Parts: sequence; C-alpha cells; structure tokens
Amino acid sequence: MSDKVFIFDTTLRDGEQSPGATMNMAEKITMARQLEMLGVDIIEAGFPAASQGDFEAVTQIAKSVGDIQVAGLCRALKADIDRAFDAVKHAKNPRIHTFVATSDIHMKHKFNKEPEEILEMTRKAVRHAASLTPNVEFSAEDASRSRWDFLAQVVEVAIEEGATTINIPDTVGYAQPDEFGKLITYLLETVPNSSKAVFSVHCHNDLGLGVANTLAAIKAGARQAEVTLSGIGERAGNAALEEVIMALHTRKDYYDVETSIVTEQLFPSCRRLATTIGQPISPYKAIVGANAFAHESGIHQDGMLKNRQTYEIMTPESIGKKGTSIVIGKHSGRNALGSKLTEMGYQLDDEQIAAVFTAVKTLADKKEEIFDEDVEALVLEEAYRIHDLYRVKELSVFSGTAGVSPHAAIVLEDFSKDKEAPEIIQEVGFGDGPINAVFSTINKMVNRTPKLELYSVNAVTGGTDAQGAVTVRISDNGVKSIGRGSDEDIIVASAKAYINAINRVERMKQEKQNA
Ligand code: KIV
Ligand code: ZN
Repeated sequence: MSDKVFIFDTTLRDGEQSPGATMNMAEKITMARQLEMLGVDIIEAGFPAASQGDFEAVTQIAKSVGDIQVAGLCRALKADIDRAFDAVKHAKNPRIHTFVATSDIHMKHKFNKEPEEILEMTRKAVRHAASLTPNVEFSAEDASRSRWDFLAQVVEVAIEEGATTINIPDTVGYAQPDEFGKLITYLLETVPNSSKAVFSVHCHNDLGLGVANTLAAIKAGARQAEVTLSGIGERAGNAALEEVIMALHTRKDYYDVETSIVTEQLFPSCRRLATTIGQPISPYKAIVGANAFAHESGIHQDGMLKNRQTYEIMTPESIGKKGTSIVIGKHSGRNALGSKLTEMGYQLDDEQIAAVFTAVKTLADKKEEIFDEDVEALVLEEAYRIHDLYRVKELSVFSGTAGVSPHAAIVLEDFSKDKEAPEIIQEVGFGDGPINAVFSTINKMVNRTPKLELYSVNAVTGGTDAQGAVTVRISDNGVKSIGRGSDEDIIVASAKAYINAINRVERMKQEKQNA
C-alpha cells in the first residue's frame, strides 16, 4: 500500500497574513468547512496570541468543525503556547504548532541568542506543549538556511520532548528542489529518533519553487505538506494545495503516495476563496485558472477531438470544474435555492437563505442567466456580512465629459445608535470622478477620512450584464481594512465595498478596545 501524505492547510493562517486576504470570522468558518469538504487532514486556523480577533477565530473554528485536526500557531514561549491551546482545545482533534528560528541569521538578528539557547527554548516549548496535548508540531523557522548539523540537533530534541510532527520550512523561498530533497533525506537518516515523527515541509514561493520543493521533499520521504489554496501567503505565497495534489494524483506512478483530498472539491474551494477575499484567480493559474483546460490552437483542438489524452493530462471534472445540476433562474423557488446552496457546499440557516433568496430574485429581474458565481457573490454579500454600522440605502451619481462636475447623492442607514431602527442620513458631494464623489460623500457622512490604498473591480461572470465585484482597502488611523461589494452597477458595488470597509474598521477598533 502507498504511504499517506498528510495535507496541512494554512490558508487561514499563512494565507490570511498576505495583503488583501483578510477574512472576517464568518468567512473563516465557511472556509474551514470548505476545507473539511475538501478532505484536508489539518487546518491551521490562525495564530491565537497575535490578536484577540485571531484567538476568537481559532476558537470558533475549533468549535464548528468535526474530526479534522485544528492547529494553532505559537512562538516557542509558554504564554503563546497556552494561548494557542486555549483556542484549539475546543476541537475534537487539537494540535499545537510551535516554532522557533534555527538559522544563524535569525538566531543572531531576531533573538540575539546562541544556538544552545535556541536548543533550550525548543526543549522547554515542546515539553510544555506536549504536557497539554499529545498532538504537537514543531517548526524550525528558516530551516533551509540553517546549518544542517544544528538543525538535526534541534529536531532530535523536539522529538525527544514529544513533537509528533517536525516541520522543515523554506521560510524565505530560498531552497532548490534537489538540495531541499537532500536536506529531508539527511534529516531522516541522521536524526536518531526520526522514525518517531512525521516529517513535514512548508515552502514559500519567492523563487517560484514552492510546489517543486514540496514535491522534492515528498519524494525524499516527507509525509506532510503545508500548503494553501491557490498558493496565497506571505510575499509570493506558499506552495499551492491544488498543484501539489494534482501532481501527486496525476503522477502517482512517480510519487506513489496517497492523500485524503477529494480532488473534485479543488476548484470549488479555490473559487470560494477567490470570491471571499475578492481576488480573482488568474486565468493562467495552473489547475484552477480559466485557461487551464482551454485549447485554442487548431492542432490542439484537432488532437482533443480525436482523443482528449493527446493534450489533457487530467480532466476538468477531476478538479470539480463542471456546472452544478440545479439551474437557478427567475422562477426558482426557495427550496431549489436551498438545494443549490447545499450542492455548492454552503450550510446556511433559514434567515440567511431567505436573504440570499430575495437578492437572487432582484438580480434575476435584471440579469438573464444566474451563474454559480452570482449565487456565491450574493451569499457573501447577504449571508456573511458582518453586522452593519452603516448600509447604503439609495445612491445616485452624475458624471460625464469635461465641464461636468461629478457628484453623488447618497442615503445611508446609520445603525450606530440603534441596531434595530436605523437613523437615515443623506448627503450630496462632489469629486474628481463618480467613484471619488461617492467615496468623499460617504467620508462626510461617517465623519472619517480614511486613505484609499487599493481599489479593484472585476466581473463576477462573463457577459455585459455581469455583476461587478469591487474590493477596496482603506487605512484609517493605522487600522487597515478590506471591503467588498457586488452589484450589477459597479458604482453601487463600489459604495457597498467602501461602506463594508468602514464597517470592518469600526469592528476592528471595537475588538481592539475589548482586548
Ligand atoms: O514560513 C514559515 O517559516 C512559517 C512557520 C511559522 C511555519 O510560516
Ligand atoms: Zn510560512
């Protein structure tokens, strides 16, 4: 029988750390459930000691998932470890993931510590973590730039103290596949107690080698891969889950390993992530990009018609790229929508389904075809919205060629004083263009002047009647926030996204105060 490679997904931790990928609690819980459907073995839900918000998110995820393992990251410090365990202990299968850096450059410049002191930190941290749970992972940060003999010593100590998973990160994406594979072989052969732990790898993509390094390590004997959906993560990101999985799957003849991933959930998972964080999947993205299975040239098309295997090494169906069976339209009832949502992997309560249903009906009056992506955008808009402080009620904009001063007239519902009965506020304002007029009018209404750091608009589907999905990033007195909104009118979508960002800033400020 082939060996199993455990899939450790860190989309909600390393992925969420990347610019523009911030998710609110409800979004994280939905993603965690999607990862469960995908069949990952371990979810790294966050870094509980990093903030009150992270602590709560990890706690809630731990409470809302089933048998899947839930890991919380922590530095090799007692207080961090305790905080991580307090959050993950609610899971059926909690894991503590503690780490310390082992490269000379990190030990000297980050900690100003000698190697012996790092060894001692490792010993104490793993011992303490193992006193709380038998499921302890230890990571040697910047392992690929560490001295191999010292790294082997640290790993031996961690296993001695009870670590059951040893993670070897290529933290800065510096390793080369052949060299990284040799490092794994060296550790497996040199560390006397290596057979008592699962060896794992965590590869960043700075040189575009995250997936190649992960695969080289698996070939050399690593049996856990730390990955993220679509490869999101710090800087250039992490090894992409779907690429690692489909390489193992398509080239089983070469790797001869198994995973518990349901490959048909790969595309739905990446699409869910893209809509949640408001960052579309690049058409050229391997496995899940729009072009990944598109054949344009005549020779390729001819070959495909004769036999698909001429140019297709895996099928779109195998990654779940197919239409779902229930088509939603103008005349669909609430039950049909409920079944559709279940088919798409959403578990919504009656109130949430009712909200999405109303939004679908409104959209169906304006748009001929309702695609899965439309339904998904409405779910995010209606079901996972954080409690609003402000909501757009009416909006009209006037703009045109030179000589016309773009201006916006906006009516907002203000729930800041009374959550049930909003106050209605209205304002008219000017700007350099229609979007600028909308944003500066909203600023006047909510009495804030955040800096707009990013504005992007994407079509949710094809077609001229497609909904626009807008993502904004604002910074308000040092608090950064992402906002998203979708609508058939991109100016309305922009206003919704901007207000959503302001609502989130307010939420974060409140969370900080509470913490
Ligand atoms: O990149 C890294 O080294 C990490 C560790 C904390 C696992 O993310
Ligand atoms: Zn990382």
